[in-house]
Amino acid sequence: MDKSKRKVVIAGNWKMNMTFRQGVAFINELKPMVQGKDGCEIVVCVPDTDISAVSEAIKGSNIKLGAQNAHWAKSGAFTGETSADMLAELGVEYVIIGHSERRQHFGEINRTVNMRLKAILGAGLKPIVCVGELETERELGITTEVVSLQTKVALHEITAEQMKGIIIAYEPVWAIGTGKTATADEADRVNGIIRDVIAGLYNKDTAEATTIQYGGSMNSKNAAELLSKLNVDGGLIGGASLKTEDFTAIIEAAQK
Ligand code: PGA
Repeated sequence: MDKSKRKVVIAGNWKMNMTFRQGVAFINELKPMVQGKDGCEIVVCVPDTDISAVSEAIKGSNIKLGAQNAHWAKSGAFTGETSADMLAELGVEYVIIGHSERRQHFGEINRTVNMRLKAILGAGLKPIVCVGELETERELGITTEVVSLQTKVALHEITAEQMKGIIIAYEPVWAIGTGKTATADEADRVNGIIRDVIAGLYNKDTAEATTIQYGGSMNSKNAAELLSKLNVDGGLIGGASLKTEDFTAIIEAAQK
């Protein structure tokens, strides 16, 4: 298997942190630190209220803009929601969907992840689809089943051609924001399972070309080992993406 076929993507997930002013200050600090570090794609997924300002702030840099969710409808009576077209018009390129915090607190289910995925692709954006098992599911030994099911339902009715624009992020829920990380071997193993699911749904070439990130307490210390694994093509980073030094260190680890 050839890892060089895949794009390495390091994406920060700011979650509900940073006002737009703080976000712009962060980007202005980050820009010179990551300039020329083109061995990976660099993405910041920001709160909706920060999108306009950050979209301006990243101009002329190698930093790409992402959002943290998008509704499945193009428009309509969905109070409080944001459509993929609205995000696209502001310069957003990537959209996280199916994050475990959305599943846990906002009623996200596999079927709605699939609906969002189609809307995001329809708007010409690149989805980052999160999958991952709960701690209890891990203890029950059903990680493979859970992650396979989440991946299959998310990708329902998606073509091999469309897969070229989709990123999967394996995020074991017990590792998110807890400081507990999957070992590099464990991350590699589950990412490999996801790749096998994609090979089964499509073919080997599609599976080998799909970027599969790891997320869950990735930081400046463990990034190099995680990213060295054959099946780990980048990271989705929460806490460590909120400090320019830490985020830059992870981006540096992804250059090799
Ligand atoms: P964390 O978050 O890096 O703080 O664990 C990752 C995520 O939720 O995407």
